[in-house]
Amino acid sequence: MKSTLENLWMPFTANRQFKQTPRMLVSANGLYYTSEDGRTILDGTSGLWCSNAGHCHPHIQEVVSKQLSVLDYAPSFQMGHPAAFALASRLSNYFPTDMNKVFFTNSGSESVETALKIAVSYQKAIGQEKRVHLIGRERGYHGVNFGGISVGGIPPNRDSFGDLLPSVDHIKHTHDISRNAFSRGMPEYGAEYAEDLLRVINLYGAETIAALIIEPVAGSTGVLIPPKGYLERIREICDENGILLIFDEVITGFGRLGVPFAVDYFGVIPDIVTTAKGLTNATVPMGAVICKDFIYDAFMSGAEHLIEFFHGYTYSGNPVACAAAMACLDVYESEQLFSKDPSFTHYWQEMLHSFKGLPYVIDIRNLGFIGAIELEPIEGMPTKRAFSAFIDAFESGLLIRTTGDIIALSPPLPFEKENIDELGTILREVLLRLK
Ligand SMILES: Cc1ncc(COP(=O)(O)O)c(C=O)c1O
Repeated sequence: MKSTLENLWMPFTANRQFKQTPRMLVSANGLYYTSEDGRTILDGTSGLWCSNAGHCHPHIQEVVSKQLSVLDYAPSFQMGHPAAFALASRLSNYFPTDMNKVFFTNSGSESVETALKIAVSYQKAIGQEKRVHLIGRERGYHGVNFGGISVGGIPPNRDSFGDLLPSVDHIKHTHDISRNAFSRGMPEYGAEYAEDLLRVINLYGAETIAALIIEPVAGSTGVLIPPKGYLERIREICDENGILLIFDEVITGFGRLGVPFAVDYFGVIPDIVTTAKGLTNATVPMGAVICKDFIYDAFMSGAEHLIEFFHGYTYSGNPVACAAAMACLDVYESEQLFSKDPSFTHYWQEMLHSFKGLPYVIDIRNLGFIGAIELEPIEGMPTKRAFSAFIDAFESGLLIRTTGDIIALSPPLPFEKENIDELGTILREVLLRLK
C-alpha cells in the first residue's frame, strides 16, 4: 500500500510548504517531543496550548487504558454513566459556589457553540425573546464553527465563509502597543476599551443582546493581555444591561495563568465559562461548558418528560474522555501544577523580557505561563518573519507557535528553570538570526 503525504488535508497549515519539507513528530515524553529524524524538540507551546501536564503522563495512560476495558462508550442522550456525573461534580468544585452546571463537548469550538446556544435560549426561556444578538471582540478566536467564527474577530478565519451568523457585532480589541509595549503582566492603559461595549449597546439596544463572549486573555491572535480594570468594567456593563458574560477559557483554563482558571486570576466571574484543551491534557478530545445555576434553572420548566435543551453530541461525556479528564485533574492536583511557586512566573517573565532590544522585537508581553514576542513585519510580506522564526526554532530543537508576526509561548506546566533557560537560549539565537 502506498504511503504518501498527499492524502491528508492538514488543518491551519501551509500544506504545500509542509509537504515539501515535513516536520514530523513521532513520540513525546514530559516536556519534549522527538522528531522523525531523531531530534529532541522542547515543547514551548504545550502542543497547541493543551498538553498542560506534559506529554505521555503515566497516570493518564494507566487510567485511560483501564477505562477502555471497562466501559468504552455509553449513549449520552437519555442515558448516563457514573464517570460523567463524577467529572461534572469535580469540575464544578473549581468554580464559584453558584456555578455548578457542566455540559460536555468534544472541543473548544463545540464548547463555544454550546455556550452561544445556551445564552440565546436562556434569554428566550426567561421571556427575553428579542435578545438574540451575540457580541464578540475584534481579534477574538473562538474556534472554527460558524457561531465561533461569527463572534470571532480574526479576518482570515471569517473571510471565505459567506455571511456567517446574523445579529453579531464586535467590540474593540485592547491591543495598544503605543502605550503598553513591553508591559510585564497586565498593561496599565486601556481599561476604557471596555466602554466600547456601551457603543454596541446603544446601537442595537440592550434588550436585543443575549451575550458577550471574550477570551479573558486572547491567545490565538497573539496573546493580548487585558488592561488593568478592563474585565471588571466589562462585567459591570453586562450586569447593568442584562447581558450574559461568557469567558472563553479554552486556553486560559487549567493552570495556564498559574491558577486554575482566569476566573481565579482576575477575580471577575462570568456567567458561562468554555473550556477544552487542558481538560484532558489533549489526550482524548473533550470540552466542557460551565454555567451559573440560574441559567440551568431557567431551562428546568415544563413537563418533566420533555427534553429541556435541544443540543448535545454523540460523544458528550464519553467515558474514555471522562477518565482522561479525571486522571488529568489528579495530576494537576497531586503535582500542584495550578500553584507553582511564584518565582517560576517571575523567571519566565524575565527570560522573555531579556529579548527587549533585539532586532525587529517591537513588543514582549506575558501573564502567568503565557508569553508573546511581537516582531516587526517584513514590508509587504506579513507573517513571513515569524514563520521563518518558527522553522528555524524547530530545526534548532524548539517548538514555538506563531500567529501573524507574533511568537506565542506556553510551556507545559511541569517545567523547571533549566527548561526555561534552554527555551531562552534557543530562542535568542533564532531571534538573532532573523532577517
Ligand atoms: C479561546 C479559544 N476558543 C476556542 C478554541 C477552539 O478550540 P478547538 O480547536 O478545540 O476547537 C480555541 C483553540 O485554540 C481557543 O483558543
